[in-house]
Amino acid sequence: MPREVREVVFVDGVRTPFGKAGGMYAETRADDLVIRCIRELVKRNPQLPPERVDEVAIAATTQTGDQGLTIGRTAALLAGLPKTVPGYAIDRMCAGAMTAVTNVAGGIAMGAYDIAVAGGVEHMGRHPMGEGADPNPRILTEKLVDPSALVMGSTAENLHDRLPAITKERTDRFALNSQLKTAKAYADGKLQPDLVPVATRSAELGWGLATVDEAPRETSMEKLATLKTPFRPHGRVTAGNAAGLNDGATAALLADEATARELGLPVAMRMVSFAYAGVEPEIMGYGPIPSTEKALKKAGLTIDDIGLFELNEAFAVQVLALLDHYGIADDDPRVNPWGGAIAIGHPLASSGVRLMTQLARHFAEHPEVRYGINAMCIGIGMGGTVIWENPNWEGFAK
Ligand SMILES: CC(C)(COP(=O)(O)OP(=O)(O)OC[C@H]1O[C@@H](n2cnc3c(N)ncnc32)[C@H](O)[C@@H]1OP(=O)(O)O)[C@@H](O)C(=O)NCCC(=O)NCCS
Repeated sequence: MPREVREVVFVDGVRTPFGKAGGMYAETRADDLVIRCIRELVKRNPQLPPERVDEVAIAATTQTGDQGLTIGRTAALLAGLPKTVPGYAIDRMCAGAMTAVTNVAGGIAMGAYDIAVAGGVEHMGRHPMGEGADPNPRILTEKLVDPSALVMGSTAENLHDRLPAITKERTDRFALNSQLKTAKAYADGKLQPDLVPVATRSAELGWGLATVDEAPRETSMEKLATLKTPFRPHGRVTAGNAAGLNDGATAALLADEATARELGLPVAMRMVSFAYAGVEPEIMGYGPIPSTEKALKKAGLTIDDIGLFELNEAFAVQVLALLDHYGIADDDPRVNPWGGAIAIGHPLASSGVRLMTQLARHFAEHPEVRYGINAMCIGIGMGGTVIWENPNWEGFAK
């Protein structure tokens, strides 16, 4: 059957404030975090008849307990979407929500869906990284993967070994900048519009309301220099220049562009291309470089066409690896203008949609920019990249 590929647009995205594992969400269920996000999306977009949602794809890296039981379906039901709306669960570790978005985008492009919800949740307090995993020993013996590949912080140390130009001083400065940019973004009211307040409960403290991220902190180069290097004696990766362990959820509305326009839904970004790529698992953080190369090639673009970058800061060293590869300065103002995961946090499977939501906001503020990129590294040696076009750019073809 001949068919046309349809344009996929990002309509809207929201997230919970991100908590520290064991912090403000210690007694809050993981699924309640993502349910809160889906409800908010529906509330913020009253033009959307909820029965028009064709799919709900929700990512979680650990799919047991309150992140189990096909969370996309159960969260959709509990969020009040009609029972006719289906859903499923998805996992690609840190790129879970990114993969949820690109999966539903594929479905939208080929006409299977008109509108879909994609997002992710990770409650790293309730589900520590690697919980219940039983990696096949043959991955180490037959595939000659170094055992350090299974510890993300160790992969970041390995990346430092391979890229000696990226010094600890540079990663600490990048981390400090991330904190400063996030503090400024909060002071300027930039992050708040897409945060969904979450009621929290603590047996000890009673009820509370989470309205801001818990992880950002004041710091300095002097303080950062004194932190321990938990992944290697005399290493370079610290709690200060890595994303922490966090709890949080995100959700986004994706649509066929014609359907969005028919319903009067906002068009915040148009998808141009996406790609995933694999690298040696022991240098996991290198992954976004080949995935970005692939996504640029598919789009017929070069890095010079990209005016804004929202890159996941799992570790400062892996962001700097990408910036060095493309000859972009460590403090280039086009990169993570409101800081990143080092300050805000990185609840694994949820983060991809946070990057997209922020990029959409930057697009609205920068009509002179045509293209923007989201990229992130992914456990077991992968990277993911999505390229978007800015509908506010003057030459945008409707
Ligand atoms: C690095 C890591 C092990 C640190 O965990 P942690 O020890 O629980 O972290 P903490 O927040 O307690 O920080 C450790 C210390 O550094 C301090 N610290 C952290 N960030 C700081 C900063 N920016 N400035 C100053 N001090 C800081 C803390 O106050 C704490 O000090 P203390 O020991 O005196 O209490 C953990 O965050 C981690 O594993 N991160 C990577 C997550 C990951 O792999 N994600 C997937 C990516 S692919």
